Amino acid sequence: MTSNHINVCVMPHAGGWHKASWRRPDTTGNDIWDPDLWRGIAQTAERGKLDAVFMADNQSVWPMSNELRHLTAKVGVWDALIAVTMMASATEHIGLIATAHTQFHQPYILARQLACIDHLSRGRVGWNVVTSGSAFDAANFSDAAQVSTELRYDRATEFVELVKKLWDSWEEDAYLIDKEAGVFYDTSKMHPTNHHGKYYDVAGPLNIMRPPQGYPVIAQAGSSGPGRELAASVGEVIFTPLTGAAGRAYTEELRGLAASKGRASTDMRVLSQITPVIGRTDQEAQEKWDWLASHLDPRLALDDMEGMLGVDLKGYPLDEPLPELGDNRLTAGYRQAVLSLSVDGRQPTLRELIARFNVPGTVVGSAETIADYMENEVDSGVCDGFILCLQGTPEELEDFVDLVVPELQRRGRFRTEYKHTTLRETLGFERPANQFSTTMDHVPSEAM
Ligand SMILES: Cc1cc2nc3c(=O)[nH]c(=O)nc-3n(C[C@H](O)[C@H](O)[C@H](O)COP(=O)(O)O)c2cc1C
Repeated sequence: MTSNHINVCVMPHAGGWHKASWRRPDTTGNDIWDPDLWRGIAQTAERGKLDAVFMADNQSVWPMSNELRHLTAKVGVWDALIAVTMMASATEHIGLIATAHTQFHQPYILARQLACIDHLSRGRVGWNVVTSGSAFDAANFSDAAQVSTELRYDRATEFVELVKKLWDSWEEDAYLIDKEAGVFYDTSKMHPTNHHGKYYDVAGPLNIMRPPQGYPVIAQAGSSGPGRELAASVGEVIFTPLTGAAGRAYTEELRGLAASKGRASTDMRVLSQITPVIGRTDQEAQEKWDWLASHLDPRLALDDMEGMLGVDLKGYPLDEPLPELGDNRLTAGYRQAVLSLSVDGRQPTLRELIARFNVPGTVVGSAETIADYMENEVDSGVCDGFILCLQGTPEELEDFVDLVVPELQRRGRFRTEYKHTTLRETLGFERPANQFSTTMDHVPSEAM
């Protein structure tokens, strides 16, 4: 088995996943309003033959107490749809996955935007379907009070179904452009949407030709019960912060859920979070990691850990393992990722957690060490590949592409060139048929 699927998750703010990375003396990643930074990141990922760049997004200034705000680089974030549009024009092969929230967008507008980006990138766009559980996001939209997880995912389910109907508004061969006969298109191949659901009423059709991929690739990272249901129903690329045994259990559960909905296990790629610290030697990587750990303000680390666990940790003893936290459906994935960590076969103390494990999927070492970890995770059934979260950008991406990718290629575990033009093909998925079509327009594609 090859670990041939790697998406890089780019945080749209300065720095990276590690909250001290923006302080590295030589980093060039803090000037986030320079578009060349993002174009360069996409080009580096393409040089490494990665499947896709995935742009995270949220709709508010990152929530944190005012006493801590000056410590973080999570201030401004690029709009993911605009960022991937910019990256599309600077690249030729790499997939571009944009996050967009079903709570705040309108299906017609989002279907149009994604279809347009799919056309301009010639079939390389994906949509990370997120609902947003953030009260701070909801507070920025007049008619979007924060709602329960169940309601958010109920709306998201209808939203995705409607967007797919809109993408199917036109059959592939609808545009005749017959100059002699004076017939531009075949009206029988245009399908009004006529959607009347619980949340949306949309007449359609979409005023955009069907996207080159049929449907842009659907990504999902749900970890609550309703989140997993949506991921299993429509997710094609699944992101999870879970690794090791917890990751394997998640993947098995998701595949079982997908099978119960009539989907094949080959219909999805589960990507587990890896957040490497890479050196030319294990020693050099460890020094980088020690530098990051020593520059992380413990108050910020604690705040982050509270976010991942969904619990106020102030007052908990620092030198004891965390007590039983129970189920929190809002933060299920990250909570589970943190609680499944161990140090020398035991549960870490809170001090160890905030100092060392404030980023899930952290692996510290040389290219060989990182590649060994990746091989083992894929071979033991944890995942189909990785969502590469970088401790800091853009330097860690360059390290990954220059050191780890060649090692994986040397082992025959990663592609050395792109063989396809669309993201759907690179992922080894078939092009979906138009649900309104009376003729087959289904084009099979091979896996990498
Ligand atoms: C790798 C990864 C990236 C994510 N990116 C985003 C993001 O950009 N915006 C967002 O609102 N949520 C993001 N999420 C959160 C998920 O969409 C989801 O809300 C979270 O895993 C909790 O699951 P739940 O919604 O089922 O409770 C991400 C999760 C993961 C694992």
